[in-house]
This record gives sequence, structure tokens and C-alpha cells, in this order.
Amino acid sequence: MVAFLRWAVLFVPLCHAVRLHHNLYCDAGEVDIRRPPQPSRFGSPWPLPQHMKLSTDTFQLSGGGFAIVDAEESSARSDCSILQDAYRRCYLHMFGSDVGKHARTTGSPVLTELQVWISSPDPECDGYPTVTSDESYELFVSLPNAVLKAATVWGALHGLETFSQLVREDESGIKCINETIIQDFPRFAYRGVLLDTSRHFLPVRSILTTLEAMAMNKFNVFHWHIVDDTSFPYMSRTFPELSRKGAYHPYTHVYTPGEVKLVIEFARLRGIRVLPEFDTPGHTQSWGKGQPDLLTPCYSGATPSGTYGPVNPILNSTYDFMTTFFKEISEVFPDAYIHLGGDEVDFTCWKSNPDIQKFMVKQGFGQDYSKLESYYIQRLLDIVSSLKKGYVIWQEVFDNGVKMKPDTIIHAWKGNPEEFKNEMAKVTAAGLKALLSSPWYLNRISTGQDWLAHYKADPQDFNGTAQQKKLVVGGEACMWGEYVDGTNLTPRLWPRASAVAERLWSAVDVTDPDDAFDRLSAHRCRMVGRGIAAEPLFSSYCPKEFRGA
Ligand SMILES: *[C@@H]1O[C@H](CO)[C@@H](O)[C@H](O)[C@H]1NC(C)=O
Ligand SMILES: *[C@@H]1O[C@H](CO)[C@@H](O)[C@H](O)[C@H]1NC(C)=O
Ligand SMILES: *[C@@H]1O[C@H](CO)[C@@H](O)[C@H](O)[C@H]1NC(C)=O
Repeated sequence: MVAFLRWAVLFVPLCHAVRLHHNLYCDAGEVDIRRPPQPSRFGSPWPLPQHMKLSTDTFQLSGGGFAIVDAEESSARSDCSILQDAYRRCYLHMFGSDVGKHARTTGSPVLTELQVWISSPDPECDGYPTVTSDESYELFVSLPNAVLKAATVWGALHGLETFSQLVREDESGIKCINETIIQDFPRFAYRGVLLDTSRHFLPVRSILTTLEAMAMNKFNVFHWHIVDDTSFPYMSRTFPELSRKGAYHPYTHVYTPGEVKLVIEFARLRGIRVLPEFDTPGHTQSWGKGQPDLLTPCYSGATPSGTYGPVNPILNSTYDFMTTFFKEISEVFPDAYIHLGGDEVDFTCWKSNPDIQKFMVKQGFGQDYSKLESYYIQRLLDIVSSLKKGYVIWQEVFDNGVKMKPDTIIHAWKGNPEEFKNEMAKVTAAGLKALLSSPWYLNRISTGQDWLAHYKADPQDFNGTAQQKKLVVGGEACMWGEYVDGTNLTPRLWPRASAVAERLWSAVDVTDPDDAFDRLSAHRCRMVGRGIAAEPLFSSYCPKEFRGA
């Protein structure tokens, strides 16, 4: 460990090197980078670590002679299954089918061991990642052995991923790694991917593949937009009729309690939180099929039209239902937050209903139906608060002036750049936390390299004080499901979401699109080599092409 301290003084920030290409920046979305990818001077780590020192000294390693072990000083023991699982994954990523291969007896020195040292007294082996988890790590690739040091398992997971990304193959097919020092931590605590399992049902396997790819990109929140107007695939224990009547099919197009548990555990093992979204009062048509009287009956003149609108906000039974339902959700999903939606509420049906009109008069809301929406949301937020959960809500709830707990996260999704910059400024000026998705609706596609526009967007790029910028918790890439199912999810998401991943993890000035193109091309091939059907960036080839999942 003495060598380790001596090396520490050599850390240099990467930004100086990266800045060289700043003025080459092109208006992404309009300009593509149409050339074969070159090797980057950084190798191919993605996202780029905060601090990295590379040397040209190389070591060889081989599947037959390499071990990942707990360091003697580590607070984690061999029963820390989250680490053992990660060691195996890291090993397989590095050596794939070459597990039995031995090192050459000549040439560069052989690296035989990576020691993993968890330094805080509680390694958090059985815990869940949270918005305040320490995800930092330090990596020393040197002789006699490499050392990965992290406060908790969450940092160690990221460090193992980085280590596996440093391993490359030389011209003769020998695995090797350069002498390297990395000190790394995320720029933002919240780095999410949204999947929509309502517009189309996504098989559990597609969700697990997404989580696997997320871990390769250091994403740490899976926002599960699990139900919506179109279908209700979440199988509820307390209200089984919801999926029995509201799913596309009650057996083949549902997530059973066991499958939900599986997703949560698979995510935990990769340092990923599962943030469930149950969006109300709009986007709830599918809820109405299995829960009578939940939705508002719409009227045509003086008679009910037979159609239904948003959740009925004037009935006590609505709040009784929500209390029981969200009690279940708060127990099934261990995360400290629930996403409560609150977007795009259409007032037409509420306006047509005479009982609602009377309620509006009684409450003194006049003709302002956003006040009725706020009344509903306020009561819902109180219910969820009483369950000891925090909440994330779409921006409309904030825009309508609903009172919120100070730890509420406002999720910006609307509009063009000027609009979302204003929204981020307003939310943070109100002292609330902000999460950005507006520039990252990856379901929207165009031909060419739209990842460049995703790469360029920055969640702190708005007019505000340093205090305001600190309230930005991060961002989220969204994959809405109208045109997406298990057939096209993975290539549409990757590597486009990787651009968002680097923006949310790496230093603010890591913006050189040419270097990003080179590293991302290599990273994309690495994902392909690991079985992820990530689409290409431009004419090129991968050493190992995709041959089916
Ligand atoms: C690794 O070392 C080799 C020489 O052995 C050098 O050519 C290469 O540029 C180094 N890679 C990085 C990413 O520094
Ligand atoms: C709804 O609940 C409130 C408070 O608990 C009560 O005063 C009111 O009478 C109830 N309304 C109906 C229609 O039951
Ligand atoms: C930010 O402030 C500058 C200077 O006051 C102004 O010119 C610019 O339009 C503002 N940008 C936004 C997005 O409000």
C-alpha cells in the first residue's frame, strides 16, 4: 500500500487534454462525424473517468492466471455476495471464452491479481443504492497487483466495470492493460433510464438486458414507467383485478410479484435503483377496467357518455384506494422514492361532469380546473408522505403551484431548450431539486448521429446561481413505448443512451465530440462483444460482430 500513496500525487485532471478540441465543436444534430473511428488517447473507458493517468507500460493478463480477490484490509468478507457476483461478471467481461488461456512466458510482465478494498466499516453488501450513496472509487493498475479502493460496494461496482474496460487485446490476441491510475466519482447522483412497459409490454428479459447495459454505462436509476392508459401489467397483490382486466393479457403480459422482485434484485446487484412510476390522475384509462368508480364518468350534456376521464378527485373512495394501493407499492419497491407522475391531465371530462362542477363551486375553485388537479395531487402527496416515501413528479405539478416537501424532485420533460432551461431555473429558484429529461427523449429518432445533440445537452446549462446548480440531481434518458417493444428496444437505446451516461458522470468540460466518437465507437463494439445489440454510429466494423443475443 506504500506505493499507492506515492502514486496519489500524480493525479491530473483530464480537462486540459480534452479542451484541445473544444473549438471543433459542431452543432450536433446537424453535423455528423463521418470518418472511421481512431484509437483515443484515453483508450476506451466510457464514461470518461474524472481523473486518469495513463502510462505506456503494459502488463499482460490471462484468464488462466488472474484473480479478483478481497484485499486483506477490506471490510467486505467473502460472504458479500454482491461483490462475488460482480467479480465473476468482471472476469467474464475481460476473458469471455478465453478463461483457460495462459500468459506468454516472454514479453511484458504479467498482472495476476486485482485486490478490492472496501474502506468504510459498513461495505453495504446487503443494502440498496440510494441518491446519497458514495459511488467513488480509486483504481491503481500497477505491479505487483492492481488495487481497487472504494468506500462501499457501490463504488467498487463502478471500479470493476472501469477495470474491465481498460483490458484490451494486442495485435497477437494477448490481453493486456496499461499501467493506470484512476480517481473517479460521478458528477450527478441521479443517472437514469426510463422504460415504458405500458404502450408495449417488454419481456422481463428485455428489462434485464437494459439493466446489464446500464451498468456498463454507470447509470444508477431504472425509472420503471410500469403502467399507463394503454395497459396495466403490474400484478398487484391487494388489487389483482387491475392487471387481470387492465393488462393486454392477464397471464402473458403481466409482471408477477416474483418477476418484480427479480428485476429489483438484478438491478441492486448492479448498483441500480428501481424507481417505480404510477402516474395519476391522468394516464389511467387501464386502471379503470379493474377498479370500478376510480375514474371520472364523462358526460355528454346531461347524461353520462359511457367514457371515462382522469381519476375522480371528489370521492373519498378514491383516496381510500390510493392509500391501500400505495402502501403496497411502498412495500414492494425498496427505493426511498416513488414517481407519482402528474403530467398531461386533460380537463375536458372533469368539466363535463355535473358532480365535479358542484364540487368546484363548493371548494371555490371557480373555473380553474388546475386547482382541482392540485387538490388531488396534494392529497396524494400527503398519502405517500405518510408512507415515509419521497416523490418525484413531472413538471406540471410544480408549474401548477402544488405545495411540496422540500426533498421533492421535479422532473422536467417539456419543450425546446429555452423552455427547459427556464423550467430548471424556476424549479431550483424555488429551492426544489430538479431532474432533466427534455433533451433526452431517445424514443425520438432521426437518421444520422443524433447522439451528438444528446451529448451536448447539459442539465446545469441554465441561468442560475451556484446554489441553484447544486439542486440539479441529474438526468434521465427516456424510452417511451409507442413505437418500441422487445424487437427494437436495445438498438434504439444503445449506444445513444451512452451519450447521456457520459454527460451525467464525467467532468463538465468533457465535451470533445471527436474523442467521444472514437471512444463511443469502441465502447459500442465492447457492448456488442458482450451480447448487447447496440447500433453502429457510422460505417465501421467491430472485432467481434453481433451474432444474435
Ligand atoms: C498503452 O501503452 C501502449 C504502449 O505499450 C501505448 O501505445 C498506448 O498508447 C497506451 N494506451 C493508452 C490508452 O495510454
Ligand atoms: C368524505 O370524508 C370526509 C372526511 O372524512 C367526510 O366529512 C365526508 O362526509 C365524506 N364524504 C362522503 C360523501 O362520504
Ligand atoms: C440568460 O441570461 C442572459 C443574460 O442575462 C440572457 O441573455 C439569456 O437570454 C438568458 N438565457 C435564458 C435561457 O434565460
